[in-house]
Amino acid sequence: MTRTREFLPAAAAGSVTLGELTVNRMGFGAMRITGPGIFGPPEDPDECIRVLRSCIDLGINFIDTADSYGPNVSEELIAKALHPYPEGLVIGTKAGFTRSGPDAWELDCNPKRLRKQLEGSLKRLKLDRIDLWQLHRIDDKYPAEDQFAMLADFVREGKVRYVGLSEVTVKDIQAARKVVPIVSVQNRYNIVDRDSEEVVDYCLEEKIAFLPWYPLGAGLRVKGAKKVRNLDEVARRLGATKMQVALAWVLRRSPVMLVIPGTSKVDHLEENVAAASLELSPHDLEELNA
Ligand SMILES: NC(=O)c1ccc[n+]([C@@H]2O[C@H](COP(=O)([O-])OP(=O)(O)OC[C@H]3O[C@@H](n4cnc5c(N)ncnc54)[C@H](OP(=O)(O)O)[C@@H]3O)[C@@H](O)[C@H]2O)c1
Repeated sequence: MTRTREFLPAAAAGSVTLGELTVNRMGFGAMRITGPGIFGPPEDPDECIRVLRSCIDLGINFIDTADSYGPNVSEELIAKALHPYPEGLVIGTKAGFTRSGPDAWELDCNPKRLRKQLEGSLKRLKLDRIDLWQLHRIDDKYPAEDQFAMLADFVREGKVRYVGLSEVTVKDIQAARKVVPIVSVQNRYNIVDRDSEEVVDYCLEEKIAFLPWYPLGAGLRVKGAKKVRNLDEVARRLGATKMQVALAWVLRRSPVMLVIPGTSKVDHLEENVAAASLELSPHDLEELNA
């Protein structure tokens, strides 16, 4: 049976807007298609290519990446697997970090350097314009306004369509919006780590997409916490996995959530995308929020 686009699994959680672009709320984070410590090539590049192509087959039309993933590796693999890009695919990339080795992340948002990073991403992704370009962090070594002004320049020059921020407070977003329109915010957020509640609420009020990074972090790494025990319990009851429940919880938290779970494996991708159609009852939510 041929599936029409509306019925592709990733569409089941509905859509969200990034400026005038509309994407499914179930997206993909392409940080994990790199080597250990997010450095160098992945152990199984062919499987990573299959993951990226499966994203499209499953109806994902938003992919998050960054020039620092690898570095360069994630953007290069995306282009290798998917260029020429299918209509409607939105790629969001980021800049700000340099990399000297596995798990080493050095922030440098010297505005001149940001321009170099943007030029590199355009080249690697084989694009004339990047749909969503995110400042990976605000670098306090330079005036924040200069970094925002650089983003505004990129939009004016037609090299970037929309701008997003990452790991920011409400005050940061408000300051940036005085200089350049902001369509998305990407902060760490999951069922256990809810430090960004205020930012999530602000994004809903202001119709800014919120991209929770590390959305599966809870189920994977936090052992013994009450929330994780509840996650196991709710998953058992629904016949789902705890990863799926963790994603369904985040999606349910706000209509502006655009989830970007990351994986290097097709079976994990399929499992994660199936969470788009997982319904949580008021009783499930009560337990998960307890
Ligand atoms: N803005 C920022 O500062 C920032 C920081 C970090 C990440 N991000 C973005 O956010 C995305 C998501 O964050 P993340 O990758 O750190 O965390 P995540 O999506 O919460 O978890 C990814 C990890 O979970 C594993 N995994 C995925 N699906 C699984 C499943 N169904 N069962 C078991 N294990 C599973 C993956 O390993 P396998 O490969 O083995 O599946 C990977 O190690 C990234 O890809 C990146 O695009 C942004």
